[in-house]
Amino acid sequence: METVIALDELRLARLRLPETVGFVPTMGFLHEGHLSLVRAAQAECASVVVSIFVNPTQFGPNEDLAAYPRDLQRDLRMLAEAGADLVWTPTPEILYPFGYQTWVTVEQITQLLEGAVRPGHFRGVATVVAKLFSCVRPQRAYFGQKDAQQAAVIRRMAQDLNFDLQVVICPTRREADGLAMSSRNTYLSPPERQAATILYRALSAAQQAFAAGERDAGRLRQCMTEVIQSEPLARLQYASCADPDSLQEIEGQISPAGDHQDCALLSLAVYIGKTRLIDNILLGD
Ligand code: PAJ
Repeated sequence: METVIALDELRLARLRLPETVGFVPTMGFLHEGHLSLVRAAQAECASVVVSIFVNPTQFGPNEDLAAYPRDLQRDLRMLAEAGADLVWTPTPEILYPFGYQTWVTVEQITQLLEGAVRPGHFRGVATVVAKLFSCVRPQRAYFGQKDAQQAAVIRRMAQDLNFDLQVVICPTRREADGLAMSSRNTYLSPPERQAATILYRALSAAQQAFAAGERDAGRLRQCMTEVIQSEPLARLQYASCADPDSLQEIEGQISPAGDHQDCALLSLAVYIGKTRLIDNILLGD
């Protein structure tokens, strides 16, 4: 496995890689969720590039940029073991040199859900991912369903900007008790870690109600809200039942999926103490 920092090193190393190239962008502090993307890329591509970059432009002024967990040596060991071919760890100065002033803005779907409560977040994500794509030039790029809206934004951006690559979305990896794996789970104290299972329990309760025939979107939102409110350490930011493509809240009945497999996206943002966690589940026909 080769590790590079500078852009000219990346470009040279990229030229030597056998095609097709699969790419997994990350912010590091890797866990099994990230590694599942590396494995998916390996299964479908001749070589796998991973980037590690804690992107400052996607953090709000009161968010956790400074505290975001970092352990590059551990990440590199995990990636070598998983079989990545090339790891790029650019510095902020490489991606945002002095005088930087170019941004990628995806419009409607960034106004809702995460975008509504984290202004500027998706501008930072879309911009950095567009830059990573144009530097790495992969044929396929791998993202997690864990960040469902991010996946939708990147898919839209790649299509709208004519990136010649396929965006692949992989399933959410969970701990044994259902908690979605996340680098931010390390912020949780032991009682908070226990309380954090409430997100998956709320999603599962709504999923079960759906399976039992409930089609009223408002009642599914209410079902998730009540489960979250039963946990004293949890504070709900939003509970959503939205169209999986437009991400607009569904009002009234959820309609059958038609051509699609999925007919609604249930998603949650919940504070457990000071830690903000998100999770989601797709409802199928
Ligand atoms: P990061 O949070 O490090 O996540 C990197 C990738 O791993 C994302 O595509 C994310 O959806 C995926 N991922 C995280 N947890 C997962 C889980 N439990 N199961 C499956 N996949 C999971 O997302 C980012 O970084 C950044 O926004 C980035 C896209 C790198 C741009 O800066």
